[in-house]
Amino acid sequence: SFLRGTVCVCVCAGCLLLSSVLLAEQEVENLSGLSPNPDKDIFVVRENGTTCLMAEFAVRFLIPYDVLALNGIDLITEQASLALPRGARIEGSCGSTEAELHISWVNNAYTLRIYFTKVGEHDGKAKETEIWKMSKVQLVYNTSDTTHFINAYNPGKHTASTHRLSALVTPGGRSYVCAAQQTLTLISSDHQKGITIYMSDIQIQPFDIKSDFVFSEPYKCITDQRERLEETLPLVLGLILALIIVITITIYHFHLKLTAQQPQLPRDRSLYKNM
Ligand SMILES: *[C@@H]1O[C@H](CO)[C@@H](O)[C@H](O)[C@H]1NC(C)=O
Ligand SMILES: *[C@@H]1O[C@H](CO)[C@@H](O)[C@H](O)[C@H]1NC(C)=O
Ligand SMILES: *[C@@H]1O[C@H](CO)[C@@H](O)[C@H](O)[C@H]1NC(C)=O
Repeated sequence: SFLRGTVCVCVCAGCLLLSSVLLAEQEVENLSGLSPNPDKDIFVVRENGTTCLMAEFAVRFLIPYDVLALNGIDLITEQASLALPRGARIEGSCGSTEAELHISWVNNAYTLRIYFTKVGEHDGKAKETEIWKMSKVQLVYNTSDTTHFINAYNPGKHTASTHRLSALVTPGGRSYVCAAQQTLTLISSDHQKGITIYMSDIQIQPFDIKSDFVFSEPYKCITDQRERLEETLPLVLGLILALIIVITITIYHFHLKLTAQQPQLPRDRSLYKNM
């Protein structure tokens, strides 16, 4: 029962540590706006003198395109990898249930359009809860841009879109936050090629922003919640193990002291039988 007591003390100490680690991390959450990520951009749409849509994220695109093979007959597929440059032009619209963000760059050779919708969801008990989500993403690109599409065959403008999406689902009145990378696949008008969009370091709110330039209460994506636990769990387990070792050594130390104080037992083995 002494061992059980020791283990219990250790587990409780671990719980206290775990909760203090989680509390400590929540306090610095406000500083996430000072991200060291240089690829991250901030987009703000304001209407009637106040912010109605705000988004921060880093984004990269992987776009396959055709080039003529050396034999001059076959087509081979190359991949263009590009990021959103600084100072892109933004436009947007804010409605009560529909919102859009349009980002254009390189003289409109590229346009990224993100569509958001707000819906009421019935949770079974005839009670309605509000959520918003990203409902569609579209990328318009022009393979005549020779900085990214080298020797593109038959260059021209193409449009790639997602199917109807239910991404970034967030409770109404809150902003979606996700540090982990989110991947989207778009189907292009260029021979149904699959375009991949990688978004990371995201904070987005397209509806119900209460004060100018300030995101409402964040809602963390599942990946981030899980990662946080995965980061802290080994630390806590390590601390518990260290504690168990210290306690065991202490017990052993006192045990040695106690036995040393006891009178010496007879050395002769034959005497044991009579005891
Ligand atoms: C942190 O956020 C809370 C609400 O989200 C706000 O009241 C507080 O002023 C913020 N603190 C800093 C330092 O920005
Ligand atoms: C801005 O004002 C116009 C006209 O008063 C109104 O129709 C519109 O809904 C307002 N927009 C927002 C986001 O409140
Ligand atoms: C694509 O880019 C090329 C070169 O900049 C331009 O001539 C062409 O008009 C563009 N295509 C469209 C549809 O805008």
